Amino acid sequence: MSTRKSSEGVKLTSESEELIEIEGDLDPDFDIPNGANILIISKDQSYLTHGIHKFPAKFFPELPRYLIRKYSQPGEYVIDPMCGSGTTILEAMLNKRIGIGIDIDPIAQLITKVKTTPIASEPLETASKILEMQIEKLDNSAEYNPIIPDFPYRDNWFRSFVLRELGIIRDGILSIKEQTHISQVDDIVDFFHVIMSSIIRDASNADPHCTRTVLRKKVRKKILPGETLRKFSQRLAQQINEMKQFSNILDDFTYFHVHLPGGTALATELLDDSIDLAVTSPPYINAVDYPRTHQLEMYWLGLLGDGPLSKVKRKYIGTETVYKDEYRDLHVSGYQTLDPVLEKIYRRDPRRAYIAYKFFDDMKHQLHETMRILKPGSRYCVAIGNNLIRGVQVKSHEILSEIAVSSVGFELESQFFSKLIRHFIRIPRRERMHGEWVLVLRKPQ
Ligand SMILES: C[S@@+](CC[C@H](N)C(=O)[O-])C[C@H]1O[C@@H](n2cnc3c(N)ncnc32)[C@H](O)[C@@H]1O
Repeated sequence: MSTRKSSEGVKLTSESEELIEIEGDLDPDFDIPNGANILIISKDQSYLTHGIHKFPAKFFPELPRYLIRKYSQPGEYVIDPMCGSGTTILEAMLNKRIGIGIDIDPIAQLITKVKTTPIASEPLETASKILEMQIEKLDNSAEYNPIIPDFPYRDNWFRSFVLRELGIIRDGILSIKEQTHISQVDDIVDFFHVIMSSIIRDASNADPHCTRTVLRKKVRKKILPGETLRKFSQRLAQQINEMKQFSNILDDFTYFHVHLPGGTALATELLDDSIDLAVTSPPYINAVDYPRTHQLEMYWLGLLGDGPLSKVKRKYIGTETVYKDEYRDLHVSGYQTLDPVLEKIYRRDPRRAYIAYKFFDDMKHQLHETMRILKPGSRYCVAIGNNLIRGVQVKSHEILSEIAVSSVGFELESQFFSKLIRHFIRIPRRERMHGEWVLVLRKPQ
């Protein structure tokens, strides 16, 4: 296999299956050949506020950065309708576009907001000093009993000393809210909450190697008293540093801000023909149950409203919360690429067949919504992984292309395969994806 260099940091392997290795940034003038395989070796996934919180199936910043630079101009509107932890939105902002982030998940909304909201150094330093002092005071007071939220199996998820330490952090953060003389105090409280959220999984007894929040008898994590407070303090110092750098950069171009308008990917509440570029990666079917993944963080931050988790879960694209009445019969879609796959899965597992059917049906509505809000001639770049469901290959990118082109009216401009090197995602080995396809769809002029 011969390899040639196309531009700095890009290696091309010329053969029928072209592999393009990209180290760090990819020049937006470079056209990835249609059908090519690319391998992005990310230089820095924690650059500025990118590393503030883990998130399943997070983008490498280099991918949205390339798409944003290639398909939009400074000052234009870039949306990610399923923005997760906000990688696209932060990149839009850093590249002087106006980022618009939508996500149904409360943790995703909070992380995106914090990641893209600059905070001036002085009030941040002042508030964090007060917070550290407050936490130390509460911890040293043996008779202090922090308020600990009540949630299912709480005492299995956390050891008693960890509950106390997290309670102290939470109470400390709440007390900062009262420091109304500090400017941007609400933004600072949100920032502290994200830092707290980022250590909850490690502080819990949950298996650290599984995306889903699960307890395993065999996994006996070693967590020492005082460790949770220490971790919080370390993360805080580190992320204050990143936030300072981010805010300094943003000082120069405060105009290029971010909107988090609410709504969902299926109903963005944005105007027709108003957006210049959309970039997203939808959830994987069969892989990540977002509300369950973030349940501990949501309980601690009070982000789950009343009612059961299952009610919230139904609203997510790719939901696995489906009812017997819905999946008793085989659902057909009318798409050539999808129906044979649904039939095969149905024979093995009717429930999984319906989950897959519903995923593509929701995605069809999502594609219609994006078509509505994009300006004519603008692109929608969708990164989507293929799956194996009950042993059946689901070529999601082919199915999505068929839906986008035949039902919604997009043109498929190009597509390429982006290999994955590292992801915070663990799913059964046989069903693990080896990368994702990026479809570049275009709304006709
Ligand atoms: C693969 S993740 C996106 C990760 C993101 N690219 C990043 O870099 O962090 C998919 C996201 O879709 C969101 N999602 C699922 N259903 C949604 C809906 N109906 N509306 C908006 N977002 C939704 C999930 O909450 C999840 O955050």
